[in-house]
This record gives sequence, structure tokens and C-alpha cells, in this order.
Amino acid sequence: MKNSLPDHHLAIESFLVTREQKEALNHQKAFVIWLTGLSCSGKSTIARYLELRLFNSGIRTLILDGDNTRLTINRDLDFSPQGRAENIRRVAGIARLFNDAGVVVITAFISPFRKDRQMAKEIIGPNCFLEVFVDASIEVCMRRDHKGLYQKALNGELNDFTGIGSPYEAPLHPHLTVPTTIQTPEEAVSQIINFLSSENFIT
Ligand code: ADX
Repeated sequence: MKNSLPDHHLAIESFLVTREQKEALNHQKAFVIWLTGLSCSGKSTIARYLELRLFNSGIRTLILDGDNTRLTINRDLDFSPQGRAENIRRVAGIARLFNDAGVVVITAFISPFRKDRQMAKEIIGPNCFLEVFVDASIEVCMRRDHKGLYQKALNGELNDFTGIGSPYEAPLHPHLTVPTTIQTPEEAVSQIINFLSSENFIT
């Protein structure tokens, strides 16, 4: 659905309270941890444990998760390249809005295409976009197959399933790679927390 107004009929409104003031009120910096990886690689699990660790440190967060947003705001989208691009465009926009409100956002989307993750980075702002590759091989993900979707895809009952009928483009230069085949979720989260502290995203 295209906005019917040409862009030159629209202007960004500025507000009286800045993002920096909101971050200061919340005693935190706002940024996005962008988790990307195959289905069943561990993104949602890491997002949950990471949120809990941050919450226990007094940091305000929001999780955006593909399985939830695709049942709600993005339920009109399919898994074609165009559907996935629009999925990422919308959730990146929401992540940006929450960052503007001074909130840390953790996203859990397969986001298989490099160009879509690049678009997310541009929407969110390059300095606030932290790409974390949740790395598990397709063989391991197929063995986990919590939702039975790999089996369905292999049976030909599910088209365009990432890793089977549709590609996954691993990040070339992620800020972090968490190898969930050899790490527990707690270890993966500790790795992320250590990175955030060392880069002064959290104190
Ligand atoms: S993304 O590719 O557009 O980033 P997203 O993370 O929102 O995907 O949604 C992935 C979830 O949708 C999977 O965990 C799975 O439960 C479900 N799903 C249903 N069909 C597909 C498909 N064809 N490819 C990938 N995931 C699918």
C-alpha cells in the first residue's frame, strides 16, 4: 500500500522534548540489538534472556519478535522477498520510535536478506543498530525444529521456507556472533552484555 501523498506534502514534526532528554530521564542510552539467524537458531530465547538481564539492571526494553508481529501488525504480509522487506521496514520503524522514546529494543527476526538489514540500519541510525548473528547451522536448526516447519518445508507443504526454499544471507560484518550450537542462552547473553558494557552502551 503506497502513501497517496507525494513526500513533498509531508514534513517531519519536531517536538519539545528530545530523545537525549528522554534517555537521560531513563538513565540509559537507547539502541537496537538486531538478532538475525535461521528459524530455530535461538533468537527468541536469547531475546527473552537478554531482556531479563537488562531489566534486572534497571534498563527499560521492548522485544519485537517475528512470531508475534506477524500475528498482529504484520499479519497481512507473506514470506516473499517483498513481504519480508516490508516486514523489516515496519519493525525497524517501530524500533526507531521506541529508541526515540529512550527505550532499548531487542529484535528477533530471521531478516534473511542483507539489503533488508541494511535498510533497518538506515532507518534506526547506524550508530544505534547492533547486528548480532545468532549462528546455528541449518542441520542443527532442522534437528531442533520446535514448530515442525522444517519438516513441512521438506515435505513440500511450506513454500519459501528460509534455508530450504529461500536463502539466508549471513551477516558479513556483524558486531557480534553468538554460536548457539556450542553456547547456552545464558552464555550468549553474557557475551552480548559484555559487548554492550565494553562499548559503553550500558554502564
Ligand atoms: S522474516 O524472514 O520476515 O524476518 P520473521 O522473523 O518475521 O521472518 O518470521 C519468521 C517466523 O515465521 C518463523 O519463526 C516461522 O515460525 C514463521 N514462518 C512461517 N512461514 C515461514 C517461511 N516461509 N519462512 C520463514 N519463516 C516462516
